[in-house]
Amino acid sequence: MSGHGTPIPMTSRPCGPLKGEANVPGDKSISHRSLILGAMAVGETKISGLLEGEDVLDTGKAMAAFGAEVINHGGGNWSVHGVGVGGFGEPDNVIDCGNSGTGVRLIMGAMATCDITVTFTGDASLNGRPMARVTDPIALFGAQSVGRAGGRLPMTIVGAKDPVPVRYEVPMPSAQVKSAVLLAGLNAPGKTVVIEKEATRDHTERMLAGFGAEISVEETGEGRVITLTGQPELKPQVIAVPRDPSSAAFPVCAAVITPGSDVLVPNIGLNPTRAGLFTTLREMGADLTYENEREEGGEPVADLRAKFSPNLMGIEVDPARAASMIDEYPVLSVVASFAEGETVMRGVKELRVKESDRIDAMATGLRLNGVEVDEGEDWWIVKGLGHGNVPGGATCASHLDHRIAMSFMVMGMAAQKPVSVDDGSPIATSFPIFEPLMGGLGADVVRD
Ligand code: S3P
Repeated sequence: MSGHGTPIPMTSRPCGPLKGEANVPGDKSISHRSLILGAMAVGETKISGLLEGEDVLDTGKAMAAFGAEVINHGGGNWSVHGVGVGGFGEPDNVIDCGNSGTGVRLIMGAMATCDITVTFTGDASLNGRPMARVTDPIALFGAQSVGRAGGRLPMTIVGAKDPVPVRYEVPMPSAQVKSAVLLAGLNAPGKTVVIEKEATRDHTERMLAGFGAEISVEETGEGRVITLTGQPELKPQVIAVPRDPSSAAFPVCAAVITPGSDVLVPNIGLNPTRAGLFTTLREMGADLTYENEREEGGEPVADLRAKFSPNLMGIEVDPARAASMIDEYPVLSVVASFAEGETVMRGVKELRVKESDRIDAMATGLRLNGVEVDEGEDWWIVKGLGHGNVPGGATCASHLDHRIAMSFMVMGMAAQKPVSVDDGSPIATSFPIFEPLMGGLGADVVRD
């Protein structure tokens, strides 16, 4: 696949203990939403700690193309002068969301109830991902779409001129789809209702409430019922973006499998809809502690300490937890390789439609590195070899997927032989400081 310019082959060599503080970047989900909701508010939203990864920068460019003023003040401080709900103007060119499924799906929702026509595209990974999951519900509001076969990008969406509110039950566990429907509902008159059977990350609901929208969430027999009153005036906010638990996963997992390690990851967002990996690691016997637990900007936050954990055991991961750790299965499968016995992961069909087919990408790379894996459509089992017994030594394909590239870099830190990836360039989408940060802790990650 191509799409990120020149590939950057990378190698991670076995290293000594990882020690120190890992100041990981801002949360990707909250960063996208800060820019989009800032663009839909009236006035100036101030954002600190924004993730300045390619995915989020693409969303910032898109918001500017819709007419918001997006200003980078340096050091992660940004401001957005919004155009108000329903105020998006028609961009005069194609909106390129790069590698970002979150970016494109949330923006499609946000523009679907505006009287404008927009063409979206992305890189080879994004242009292969399913978009019908968003175009189906936005059609109910009155938006039309034309894309490539299978509902793929590039795709043009004609926003609804006279939108109507919608009641929609999200058919798969997807915060992106839920959020797209809620953002579309913002410019529809009356009440839009979204029902999700399984709880997914709830940043959109929390942030909409913060921006002054009338939104309620009810836990019922049919699931989480979210009711949003359309056409509010969103009030600009001051947002401090917490650090990303999905990025923290990499130094945390690296510390857990690398002998002698002791790493502190300060100020991590620990929203329960995101923290499933840490619960799972503890069940496997990982030495993780939360320090200084607190609440910041409506999100629970703590400092997370991870230490080398020599007696990891394989477990059956609770499928009910899948949505709360959906982006962390690749790096969990690396930790599982260093555990004794099998780690069983079920109910994870969504992994097949991420930036890559993550079950296939990880299973193939783990096997090349000497770890046995069984897999089916919505499950996989990693047969752990125990600490010190993972051979390594192979080069894996990252398939334009940042989390696949970083997972294999983590594996190389504690395997017997180095582990390489054919292309580490996608890491810049979510964790642009991965190499210096891991190097500062003592990892030996180099560009070949
Ligand atoms: C995200 C939701 C998840 C996740 C993605 C970010 C979000 O996708 O994989 O990295 O910010 O809403 P799905 O909602 O499609 O599972």
